Amino acid sequence: MADTRQPPRPDEPIRFAYWVPNVSGGLVISNIEQRTDWSIDYNRTLAQIAEKAGFDYALTQIRFTAGYGAENQHESVAFSHALAAATEKLTVIAALLPGPWNPTLAAKQLATINHLTGGRIAVNVVSGWFRGEFAAIGEPWLDHDERYRRSEEFIRALRGIWTEDTFTFNGDFYRFRDYALKPKPLDPQPEIFQGGSSRAARDMAARVSDWYFTNGNTPENVAKQVDDVQAKAAELGRRVKIGVNAFAVARGTEEEARGVVDAIVANANPEAVKAFGHEVKNAGAASPEGEGNWAKSSFEDLVQYNDGFKTNLIGTPRQIAERILDLKQAGVDLVLLGFLHFQEEVEFFGREVIPLVRELEAARRPVSAAA
Ligand SMILES: Cc1cc2nc3c(=O)[nH]c(=O)nc-3n(C[C@H](O)[C@H](O)[C@H](O)COP(=O)(O)O)c2cc1C
Repeated sequence: MADTRQPPRPDEPIRFAYWVPNVSGGLVISNIEQRTDWSIDYNRTLAQIAEKAGFDYALTQIRFTAGYGAENQHESVAFSHALAAATEKLTVIAALLPGPWNPTLAAKQLATINHLTGGRIAVNVVSGWFRGEFAAIGEPWLDHDERYRRSEEFIRALRGIWTEDTFTFNGDFYRFRDYALKPKPLDPQPEIFQGGSSRAARDMAARVSDWYFTNGNTPENVAKQVDDVQAKAAELGRRVKIGVNAFAVARGTEEEARGVVDAIVANANPEAVKAFGHEVKNAGAASPEGEGNWAKSSFEDLVQYNDGFKTNLIGTPRQIAERILDLKQAGVDLVLLGFLHFQEEVEFFGREVIPLVRELEAARRPVSAAA
């Protein structure tokens, strides 16, 4: 097959997002000390540090019940609004699950937050892996690819409501008539992200999403996904933006950084990691092709919720900056980051890593684009 991959425009800087710790227990299933807190006060300050540090986006998590270390969970849409209200530039991505949310409610909720924040709200439509959670809130659990069929309807419905004067939708999962949402969101429309990397996730991204978010992986494996998604998107005259997860450990030496990851894994809670590994088999492994997020994750991979060690942003600031450029070369537009000690490490990342990334981007920019 011809390589239809369109590399990111060379003059576009790679974007940075961080995971909002709106659930307790941090981003690793480990008993190691994490100087991170799920409270709103900690998170407001973190968001302010992040926007000053050069982060463009903050991504909240949607979780309804405890499990695997996340004992407490703040709801994502309300929390996203609070963070946008506490900041000036940051765009906050609110995670939603089709099922508990329906698109008419979500469109209204997000349009209001869009106005309240001057357009700094986006949405991450996640299709779900936590079957036990769905049972707890009385929500029927659909098969893997049916979840994506529903998510695609959800996204098409959101866009229709946001852009058409009145909108009617006759889907298999959602039906509504002559819905005239006012006010519409400000231009540009809120961006629509999605999480997942199975066949169904990729095809949905190619058809309807602005952004495709995938779990941590090597540049080679990310490039394969990018080629696949972009080839299908190109057939529709579209280009999807790509975000990849990473757990960043930036330290003075590579040994020190590697030592931190070793300590995280050594202090992992084996029961919780194994239970999480069992539950996420409802994601990629449950797809008809058996591929997708967590389908091939090892015990160590699972200690970080979204395979963030695999991306290997573990080392000195320069090593990390170079690896980020490799990801950009693979077609990545955004790196989504988790940290052990969020406030201090987001600040450090902004001071020590992002400027190096910008230097490398300028140095590698083709002459025609730099002119
Ligand atoms: C960046 C990212 C963020 C996600 N956030 C959430 C979330 O907040 N809540 C949730 O239930 N699932 C979340 N997911 C999981 C997805 O809903 C989906 O179940 C999972 O990625 C499996 O996809 P796959 O089977 O298509 O590979 C996220 C996934 C990614 C990649």
